[in-house]
Amino acid sequence: KTVAVIFGGESSEYEVSLKSASAVIENLDKEKYDVIKIGITREGRWLRYEGNIDNIRNNTWFLDDHCKEVMISPGKGNENLIEVENGMLTHTKIDVAFPVLHGKNGEDGTLQGLFEIAGIPYVGCNVTTSSICIDKDYTHKIVEYEGFNVPKSLAINHQTPEEEIDGFAKAVNYPVYVKPAQEGSSIGMTKAENRLQLFQGIKEALKFDEKVVLEEMIHGFEVGCAILGNDDLIVGTVDEIEIPGGFFDFTEKYTLKNSKIHLPARIDHELCERIKTAAKGIYQALGCRGLARVDLFIAEKNRIVFNEVNTLPGFTTGSRFPNMLLHAGMEYKCILDKLIELGMQ
Ligand code: DAL
Ligand code: MG
Repeated sequence: KTVAVIFGGESSEYEVSLKSASAVIENLDKEKYDVIKIGITREGRWLRYEGNIDNIRNNTWFLDDHCKEVMISPGKGNENLIEVENGMLTHTKIDVAFPVLHGKNGEDGTLQGLFEIAGIPYVGCNVTTSSICIDKDYTHKIVEYEGFNVPKSLAINHQTPEEEIDGFAKAVNYPVYVKPAQEGSSIGMTKAENRLQLFQGIKEALKFDEKVVLEEMIHGFEVGCAILGNDDLIVGTVDEIEIPGGFFDFTEKYTLKNSKIHLPARIDHELCERIKTAAKGIYQALGCRGLARVDLFIAEKNRIVFNEVNTLPGFTTGSRFPNMLLHAGMEYKCILDKLIELGMQ
């Protein structure tokens, strides 16, 4: 099978994607798969890359002389990957695409749309689910409608009257989390302790997205649940994030300087089972396929409150998603095989 791994991309999580994708490429079984590596530069150029994995990891891959411009043709055909070299076109068939991109133009349904119109099977959630899950506001609305607890929130844009924002802050009390509706890895997100920080945070978040979500703080802790599957779901061991600083921001996510991931989470069996049931319910309510990491808060009295869903979660060998499945007995390489199988179903 020819598997096209797509990495990089125009999103602010470009660097994260390089790390995830190098691990995926390294671990795909080369006896089973012909791996085509397609990098998308920060500027949005699509290049087929044939060099070594280290240069993906250290972000010099696009300097390689052998990078060739490629495109995916939209018509449904057998050979949708088109390489352009000296004015000559070469066509290649992709059996399955494996997007290892996070955020905008990768995780948000747009890339998935390209695969759909090209008739290329792909790993992960479909167009609708990807675009809902990238948007924290829409995700919350659906998950709440389906009967799960969600934090109180308010979606705003640059036109929202100040009184409405003040009213929300008054109703939920500080701190208030300020999040661009469609970002990942906590980029553009702040925790506002007072009105000044709230309005500064909104200004900052509006740089990343025209829609911003204000969210009450859930007092408790955060857990994650890795789910793999289309119909029959495999659920990883629940993990827990310990955040002494109270904010799992970008730096903390990738350095874990003050924070710690506990795997398994330090909670009892009964709560773990409830978390898994809730996570599966949310996965199904949102129509997820392939994979997702469902992030939840555990509030007072062990109340489970939804946080967000990542349809293409971090995927290095040290990332939470593969580790949760590994803890439940599924090796990284098996996860990749399973994802490809699910993508082709
Ligand atoms: N958005 C990052 C990659 C994650 O959820 O792991
Ligand atoms: Mg996220």
